[in-house]
Amino acid sequence: MTSPQRAPGGFPVVGIIGGGQLARMCAGPASELAIGLSVLAEAPDAAAAQVVPSSPVGDHRDVEAVLAFARDCDVVTFDHEHVPDEVLSALVAAGVPLHPTPDALVYAQDKLRMRRRLTEIGVACPAWAQARTADQVEAFAARVGWPLVAKTPRGGYDGKGVRVVGTVDELQDWLDQVGAPGPLADGILLEERVEFVRELAVLIARSPSNQAAAWPVVETVQTDGICTEVLAPAPDLDPGLAAVATEAGLRIAESLQVTGVFAVEMFEVRDAESGAPSYVVNELAMRPHNSGHWSMDGAVTGQFEQHLRAVLDLPLGAPTPREPHTVMANVLGGDYPELYPAYRHLMARDPGLKLHLYGKTVRVGRKIGHVNVSGTDLADLRERARHAADYLAGVITE
Ligand SMILES: Nc1ncnc2c1ncn2[C@@H]1O[C@H](COP(=O)(O)OP(=O)(O)O)[C@@H](O)[C@H]1O
Ligand SMILES: [Mg+2]
Repeated sequence: MTSPQRAPGGFPVVGIIGGGQLARMCAGPASELAIGLSVLAEAPDAAAAQVVPSSPVGDHRDVEAVLAFARDCDVVTFDHEHVPDEVLSALVAAGVPLHPTPDALVYAQDKLRMRRRLTEIGVACPAWAQARTADQVEAFAARVGWPLVAKTPRGGYDGKGVRVVGTVDELQDWLDQVGAPGPLADGILLEERVEFVRELAVLIARSPSNQAAAWPVVETVQTDGICTEVLAPAPDLDPGLAAVATEAGLRIAESLQVTGVFAVEMFEVRDAESGAPSYVVNELAMRPHNSGHWSMDGAVTGQFEQHLRAVLDLPLGAPTPREPHTVMANVLGGDYPELYPAYRHLMARDPGLKLHLYGKTVRVGRKIGHVNVSGTDLADLRERARHAADYLAGVITE
């Protein structure tokens, strides 16, 4: 592979496959560090293509398009986990440095393989099984009890590949709705329905030289399967649980040789007998993650800068929080297509509010931005973040 054209000053070019908001939010830190950025975008008006001058349009499933894109990049990373195996293999064969590597990424792409691997390395997971037949479903339900949580192993996001089912028929109906043959070739992932106290996430950055940095464990709040709020750090988290959850995240990152920013979604649970707090792992994401958006304003090093550092094998920045609490609220699309008019009111009402919008066309329920607010009074921060997100969504009018 020939060396790509360096940005002026000898700065490398980081290529990102996919032009969504995660790629877009790398643009700020890349510009500050004078690191070159190039994005393989779905469309000329994709969220990242609007702000990254080098944003060729191409399909992430098209081997030739992706190889041509990678030729102009020093390292290549991802905005999403949907790049197919044959494209990843072609990039590896062409000598393109990929972060994360396909060997690691597969555990974020395929929830069955993730469950198998985490079980092998002794990380606590919900009871789970792979099922291809009704008998296998019944056998698992006999072990853990109905209802079950059924998941398509590949391709799900924002709860779209997840369904709580009470009977085999209900499972079958759902599979008929979502059941493209591709994702279900290996059968379905079944899990016990975990009675969790709350959802947590551990966010880690790991570099190819094996430096790792962990942000504090956060609480994530999901509404209809979509993350709507993040509290950083997770309020009143048992210090012992914070330590073991972080240790588990670091161990997974090292065992799976993850590079870049990496999120472990977890459930906080109570031991049935002792009542002691512990965790089970829900799933992995190998890229900057919604649970880390708070860090853009709430930590010394935000996740997008850290991701650039990690994939370039630069020393990592401090993940230390700047304030006792940061609250992030996602802005979901509402009835108003125009968002800018909301700025005047929100900025006047709350000068401490940090607004991040992604340049996406407003559609009801679509993640179009987020807000962060940091300080000492958690209840006040939550109210302010919720207010701003609801106002942008048009749920409230003042
Ligand atoms: N085994 C489970 N028990 C209880 N709730 C679950 C379980 N698995 C998933 N969920 C709920 O569904 C949400 C989405 O599931 P997840 O596997 O994270 O899918 P996605 O890839 O869409 O994020 C989780 O955040 C959690 O609220
Ligand atoms: Mg999830």
